[in-house]
Amino acid sequence: MWHIHSKYGEPDFYPSLEKEILSLIDGEKNLIANLANISSWIYHAFPDLNWSGFYLWNEEDKELVLGPFQGKPACIRIKPDRGVCGAAYSKALTIRVDDVHAFPGHIACDSASMSELVVPLIKNGKVMGVLDLDSPRANRFTEKDQHEFTKLMNKISDLIY
Ligand code: SME
Repeated sequence: MWHIHSKYGEPDFYPSLEKEILSLIDGEKNLIANLANISSWIYHAFPDLNWSGFYLWNEEDKELVLGPFQGKPACIRIKPDRGVCGAAYSKALTIRVDDVHAFPGHIACDSASMSELVVPLIKNGKVMGVLDLDSPRANRFTEKDQHEFTKLMNKISDLIY
């Protein structure tokens, strides 16, 4: 049984998050299982999220396809030139959106979403997919969140792929 206590705002939040996620995936090679547990852990450990999950690059179809997530059902396929997820994929960069309504081409899967953070999963220079975090609060994600999630996903991508 898991007890998830959010330490968000405390100085050791990100070191703890990293440790917790590393222990969740320790010894497990199955990608879907690992992504499912990571999306769940983030959803519960990071306050004010209405969606936390992954879109994975599908080489055959040349688009992102919905992967494991927590939250309401979401759009299944995203072209690389669409939405915040497509932009993060194409640029291989983390994108922080303070107000989704001001982002041209934002895809509204859940009308509750007000701000968003999308982080690419990069392995050997190739973007394998993205982590997408949505919040019902505008300006939810800070520069530190952007930096720390980028670092964390770089590390995780190396281990899960
Ligand atoms: N808002 C995203 C689409 C995915 S959902 O938020 C889960 C985007 O604009 O790419």
